[in-house]
Amino acid sequence: MFDLSGKKAIITGGGSGIGKAISLLFGQQGAEVHLLELNEAAASSVVNEIQATGATAFSHAVDVSNQKEVLAVIRAIGRVDILVNNAGIAHVGNLENCLEEDFERVYRINVKGAYNALFSVIPLMKKQQRGVILNLASIAAQVGITDRFAYSMSKGAIAAMTLSVARDYISDGIRCNSISPARVHTPFVDGFIAKNYPGKEEEMFAKLAASQPIGRMAKPEEIAKLALYLCSDEANFITGNDYPIDGGFIKLNN
Ligand SMILES: NC(=O)c1ccc[n+]([C@@H]2O[C@H](COP(=O)([O-])OP(=O)(O)OC[C@H]3O[C@@H](n4cnc5c(N)ncnc54)[C@H](O)[C@@H]3O)[C@@H](O)[C@H]2O)c1
Repeated sequence: MFDLSGKKAIITGGGSGIGKAISLLFGQQGAEVHLLELNEAAASSVVNEIQATGATAFSHAVDVSNQKEVLAVIRAIGRVDILVNNAGIAHVGNLENCLEEDFERVYRINVKGAYNALFSVIPLMKKQQRGVILNLASIAAQVGITDRFAYSMSKGAIAAMTLSVARDYISDGIRCNSISPARVHTPFVDGFIAKNYPGKEEEMFAKLAASQPIGRMAKPEEIAKLALYLCSDEANFITGNDYPIDGGFIKLNN
């Protein structure tokens, strides 16, 4: 079960947090893992960790918002069985606190970055008549979250792109789904707490942890296990869906 032997998997933003956990687990399950990552040092360290277990992994220094770079790297990889569109950045603020450059930065990385990887991978998967795509959406695409204007916009776009790609390429043997985590304890969360709530880090962390009815944030490894299921052949009947993994956030917060 959940064997990825013989499969090539691309994980964007695989150098940290959820992407790192997915890269490690996919490597452990036999995939040849390719990290497309801005932070070369982080990506190399994950590749070393994967290789230490005897699995195969490569890091590619790529800014996902740059279509030329993404296309060149993915074409060179040649065959892609699994794409995980994971690279993303946070932004805290309501509409009035979201300046044009904030909006454009979040759009460029979270939305255009995913589009660039899809644009590069779909022709290969069509040729193969087979492939699986998993996009990292968020609970922010499904419910109104305070002070997440630009971020929610970007994750709403991920949800819509997931449906569009799933629909258009269903007859090419390509599956496309998304995962919507609530808060996951990664450098992403630590980073936006430190940046936006200086001096109140502990209080904010506790508040964010308590906002999941289950009483804590998720661990990246818990998200990776759902990603593994959805990208494995065991999930061959699943496409065009979003999977919340949220400690009860969406349905039990009342
Ligand atoms: N952590 C959470 O609470 C949470 C919740 C829901 C959804 N998500 C989503 O999950 C994904 C991963 O989040 P995380 O918490 O693991 O974040 P993280 O910050 O720990 O890791 C993100 C990785 O993406 C890389 N990256 C950023 N911009 C890039 C670019 N332009 N090109 C290539 N790589 C780039 C970073 O270098 C980093 O290694 C994101 O899409 C995020 O929106 C996170």
